[in-house]
Amino acid sequence: MSSDMTLPPLAQIPADLVSLGDYARRAPAHMPKAVYEYIVGGGADEISLRRNREVLDRMLITPRVLVDVTRGGTQSQMLGETFRHPIMLAPVAFHKLVHPEGEIATARAASVLETPMVVSTLSSVELETIAQTLDSPRWFQLYFQQDRAFTLSLVRRAERAGYSCLMITVDAPLHGIRNRAQRAGFELPPGVEAVNLRQRPPLPSRVLEPSQSIVFQGMMTEAPNWEDIRWIQSQTQLPVVLKGVLSPVDALKAQQMGIAGLVISNHGGRTLDCVPSAIEVLPAIRQAVGREMTLLLDGAVERGTDVFKAIALGADAVMVGRPQLYALAVAGAAGVAHMLRILREELEVCMALAGTPTLADIGHEALYRPAQPLWGI
Ligand code: FNR
Ligand code: LAC
Repeated sequence: MSSDMTLPPLAQIPADLVSLGDYARRAPAHMPKAVYEYIVGGGADEISLRRNREVLDRMLITPRVLVDVTRGGTQSQMLGETFRHPIMLAPVAFHKLVHPEGEIATARAASVLETPMVVSTLSSVELETIAQTLDSPRWFQLYFQQDRAFTLSLVRRAERAGYSCLMITVDAPLHGIRNRAQRAGFELPPGVEAVNLRQRPPLPSRVLEPSQSIVFQGMMTEAPNWEDIRWIQSQTQLPVVLKGVLSPVDALKAQQMGIAGLVISNHGGRTLDCVPSAIEVLPAIRQAVGREMTLLLDGAVERGTDVFKAIALGADAVMVGRPQLYALAVAGAAGVAHMLRILREELEVCMALAGTPTLADIGHEALYRPAQPLWGI
């Protein structure tokens, strides 16, 4: 299908659309090719992007039978809030790329399904307008801006709009090597922009010496460091969560600074390539920080069994990224609501069939560990 033949969101969800994978397969027909390539793609050779799925696929579950699960449920407590399900909407930029209503449609779906939504700094609808629609827990994802006063103004806007948590993304101070999006010639179409950043002061013009690097002395001079995180903590009462941590050393450091939670994530394989998937490093990070610290995980979560595997290895909840945009493109707010409902029902079915009535019952022993590898696996 050529890029000028994109289908509008469907008014009715077809009966054969029954999994998140089904939405992903249909999505390309509902958006321009370059937009699809930007969304689906990862960094460089996409080794981490593929690995996110491959590692989850290789993990298996050991079910326990004949357990009474009739008092079961998926409620969890996180950062002082009670969640119906351990499934959240990850911060994803520019929902208007795939739907004219953008984040408003997503927020409506999140509200109906009582699903927490993390609103991106790079949302294509103002964070205040999204907040007016969003009844479920709302968190704000912060990308540091080079101007501290402007960064602080974003935090203040989020506080005033009733966001209850500040999730600071720390793994993408610059885009990775986005070859797929580059090849497709992706750029923001007219009408889609980072509306929260309209008042951003212009960047000071900087002339680099020939001996200086466009990365180190150029782009990275705007990147935040640990001191900036400390500074934000001193400026806000909101719990601060760091998104994009893969190292147990960083996790411990964050914990010692009073960071409330971490998102173990490789940004959907979109920033640095050749890093492990979040699920691989989760056990070591849980061990490093102990039982109390809130740990979220994202990356290729598209089945209830994926959520279960993450919980078994110590996550408190998971976030989904791309599936939101696929569902939004295919069927608007109804699609996002349907996608969330599928995922949560799959989790409940998995828990029931695995004999684990509550999230607290899902431990390491729920995962299958062969005494010795079979069939070369
Ligand atoms: C993202 N992600 C992201 N993260 C963030 O902190 N701020 C952002 O604005 C965005 N924007 C964004 C746009 C698009 C198109 C994608 C696909 C991803 C990363 C996102 O929060 C999450 O970490 C990954 O998407 C998780 O992987 P899956 O679920 O997409 O496999
Ligand atoms: C991305 C940025 C917006 O992943 O976080 O495209």
